[in-house]
Amino acid sequence: SLPSASAHDDKGPIVIGHRGASAYRPEHTLAAYELAARMGADFIEPDLVPTKDGKLVARHENEIGGTTDVSAKPQFADRKKTKTIDGVAVTGWFTEDFTLAELKTLRAKERIPAIRPRNTLYDGRFEVPTLQEVIDLSKRLSRELRREIGIYPETKHPTYFQSIGLALEPKLVDILNRNGLNRRGAKVYVQSFEVANLKELNRSLRVPIVQLVNGSGAPYDFVVAGDKRTYADLVTPAGLREVRSYADGVGLTKDIIIPRDANGFLKAPTTVVKDAHKVGLIVHSWTFRNENSFLPADFRSSTDPAAYGRAFEEYDLFFKQGIDG
Ligand code: G3P
Ligand code: CA
Repeated sequence: SLPSASAHDDKGPIVIGHRGASAYRPEHTLAAYELAARMGADFIEPDLVPTKDGKLVARHENEIGGTTDVSAKPQFADRKKTKTIDGVAVTGWFTEDFTLAELKTLRAKERIPAIRPRNTLYDGRFEVPTLQEVIDLSKRLSRELRREIGIYPETKHPTYFQSIGLALEPKLVDILNRNGLNRRGAKVYVQSFEVANLKELNRSLRVPIVQLVNGSGAPYDFVVAGDKRTYADLVTPAGLREVRSYADGVGLTKDIIIPRDANGFLKAPTTVVKDAHKVGLIVHSWTFRNENSFLPADFRSSTDPAAYGRAFEEYDLFFKQGIDG
């Protein structure tokens, strides 16, 4: 059952357009979000990072060499840097070193052309959108499609951004407030991997908050918060009870729901979904698509229709575990 803070009245699974319809248009572009909505998504999902002048823009990470044409712009050659972000050295161009006006001169490109070759047809056509533009799009499409298109923003690297004076939390709360979206019943979820960030957002947000949980056991966000536990600890019954103290749901990578064996075959489901529901957390899961490791290794090259059938059976199996989205 959904907790009282539920963002919407939908019953059963919801569809979240992950980074937009990112298999069909370069991710995190208005074109990708619009297509996701037209394909039937209930929500579009912008990942958020800030610009130098404090505007929130939709990118999966702040390094933009892989998803924009910045490397081809001589005027920005000297912006290339190496930074340590959450303990990892990253070389490239970073949103926090560009004003919004500068960022708007760039154009998006496909991140993984080997897997999504058709998306390269759109390289160079679309801007990096602001969160405000994503919200405006969702409002326009809601009117046009006569059903509400929700937004499901994710704060990326919030501890890092706080450390350089570009905290994401107040900016996100401010934009939601200004758009009338920080209220119970608004079709909005806010998600993050970082615990401290969500606890802070919980103080100002009236929309549901979702604690993302990955399967790597990576502890970085808890270390930053002075807590050395891993994501695996978050999905124990005790961990889930604690999550419920500041969040309304958990966003589980699908392997937490049904793990795989070394050959990629699905094992028995875990009890995590039931355990989460027991403490009143809704469960969303990511990411379901037919181009990644979710499928058998031979899927992409397979011409056997049964392989596709097997993939859809697997989707079905996950949803039968009772996930809410
Ligand atoms: O909603 C969860 C999902 O978006 C987290 O993964 O890396 O695609 O942002 P990522
Ligand atoms: Ca995301």
